[in-house]
Amino acid sequence: MLAEIRSLAEYQEAWKNSIHNPESFWKTVAESFYWFTPFTKVKEGDFKQVNMQWFVGGQTNLCYNCIDRHLPEKANQTALIVEPNDPTTPAKVVSYQDLYNAVCMFANALEKHGIKSGDRVCLYMPNGFEAAVAMLACTRIGAIHSVVFGGFSARALADRIHDTGSAILITADSIFRGNKEVSLKAIADEACQSCPSIQSVIVLKHTGSEINWNQGRDIWWHDFMENQPSTHTAVAMDAEAPLFILYTSGSTGKPKGIVHTTGGYMVYIGYTFRNIFQSQPQDIYFCTADVGWVTGHSYGVYGPLLNGITSVLFEGVPTWPNAGRFWEIVDKFKINILYTAPTAIRALEAFGAEWPAKYSLASLRILGTVGEPINVEAWNWYHKQIGKEKCPIVDTWWQTETGGIMISNLAGVTAEKPTFATLPFPGIDPVLVDETGKEITDTVAEGRLCIRSSWPGVARTTWRDHERFKQTYFSTFPGLYYTGDGCRRDEGSFYRITGRVDDVVNVSGHRIGTAEVESALAEHPAVIESAVVGYPHEVKGQGLYAFVICEPHHSEYPNLIPECQQIITQKIGSFAKLDFIQVVPGLPKTRSGKIMRRILRKIVEGETQNFGDTTSLLDPTIVQQILTDYQIIRNKHTKP
Ligand code: WT7
Repeated sequence: MLAEIRSLAEYQEAWKNSIHNPESFWKTVAESFYWFTPFTKVKEGDFKQVNMQWFVGGQTNLCYNCIDRHLPEKANQTALIVEPNDPTTPAKVVSYQDLYNAVCMFANALEKHGIKSGDRVCLYMPNGFEAAVAMLACTRIGAIHSVVFGGFSARALADRIHDTGSAILITADSIFRGNKEVSLKAIADEACQSCPSIQSVIVLKHTGSEINWNQGRDIWWHDFMENQPSTHTAVAMDAEAPLFILYTSGSTGKPKGIVHTTGGYMVYIGYTFRNIFQSQPQDIYFCTADVGWVTGHSYGVYGPLLNGITSVLFEGVPTWPNAGRFWEIVDKFKINILYTAPTAIRALEAFGAEWPAKYSLASLRILGTVGEPINVEAWNWYHKQIGKEKCPIVDTWWQTETGGIMISNLAGVTAEKPTFATLPFPGIDPVLVDETGKEITDTVAEGRLCIRSSWPGVARTTWRDHERFKQTYFSTFPGLYYTGDGCRRDEGSFYRITGRVDDVVNVSGHRIGTAEVESALAEHPAVIESAVVGYPHEVKGQGLYAFVICEPHHSEYPNLIPECQQIITQKIGSFAKLDFIQVVPGLPKTRSGKIMRRILRKIVEGETQNFGDTTSLLDPTIVQQILTDYQIIRNKHTKP
């Protein structure tokens, strides 16, 4: 079992040690994992060269550490519980031995099919047992998985398949989320039309819905696995071998394929999970995130399995068939640790405290939140109605690029402070800088959050585009990793993340690049130009508001708004739909043609007068014109 930090003093000691002697600190942590070949050097490279490496020379296997290593003691212990969308269908309960057998069969099937280490495998699947099996089987054979969330459109899926050059796609006939069916196979078929790299599509029979069949290309999941041996020798992978690619949106261009590597990711995820959640060997843990996002990767599948505990995966949604679903799941499986997003808490809070009151929730010991800043009301509700004022809440700040949690209290060990992620995890050295890149050394400060030096879980590159990786994260403030988040530090050196300061909007914990939405809008024939900004939204944290300049004859498009929504749904996915679209006569631009988004952000935050310095605007009167219509729209509250 991994070492546990059990007191504030131990935390302080570990943090200091990790910063002053990172090599010896991480050596000790890493040695509690299984290595086929021991590493010879703990850490190499830095944020200046952007050539970070960890556990150099070592060989290991993430899947082996998640499963095989536990078998001698835990073969019959439950590894995964999968709660289906429909509460009347029994949950699937899978022991470590069952998981081993299924993963080995799938790993053998992949290898027999010609997939080898370094090949990319794309997953577009329900959040369930088979997704975990496919991910673990990939890591077992050294193939690089690229999981695409089941809410993405055919175009978004195709872009990702294309960028990774995956030869194989694993999907399912369809999924139900609540009472809504999503035809994954039909979307996958559409995506594959523009993806010549795809040679085979493995199809899980999940709902039994009718699907089209492409003879010669499509293979049923059960046929693919059939007669495969249920043992398999895990492939020894170099610590720096790419492990998975996961796409995420930034402030410019297309989504980036974030690349994580084997050894550092494993060590960082296993160790953060153990300490932040203070997990104990018999814990039943429920992370509500989908495996399609990094939270599902790191803390739905890999973190809990590395620690040999039971992880619950849930295919459905929090509000179906009613707003008691999460709480019903907590009681049904006697969940000890619950990890969810502020947006889910706020959505459930809106249904009233009578829903959690119907359940005991007595099994809960620790609560966690992730994905966006949590507001005080939601924190208090979670603390009182769910935690019954006895469960510590860990507010965990991190990003797809960081691999694992970076700033968080350790449950019950270090202090919590509502709305603050609080203190950096051992190995993490946060820095606040001002707009010019100067480090702010005062304790109490507000600035842009950067990280000073490398930690084992940091992403190593963006897939096939290292320049872009350097440019995005290491060029704004040279030598530092730049997070894109604004942050405050209080007198106790607690950190509070205030939200993105770049052109990324966080809608219900989903990261959406405004540039991507704008480029989708530009596909509408009536749209000349647009600017999309995030505005404060009661439940979703942020919503999307678009200011759109249209062709003079745009009245010829009476369905402009629904058509724009349709394009966004097709290009990205329905979760990126706009909350408001305002047709404007112009946008607040500088003389050099740059949109002053700062002004638009102020407008959607409800500011009516103080727009700061507007002297560089080409046409300052445009602000007033936009504002007048904005107020009419918001007052009517007419959503498109
Ligand atoms: C962005 C990263 C990390 C897993 C889920 C999202 C925001 C994340 C918190 C938190 C305030 C948070 C940040 C960050 N964020 N956790 N506890 N408090 N903000 O991963 O899609 O890569 O998004 O989510 O703005 O940059 P992601």
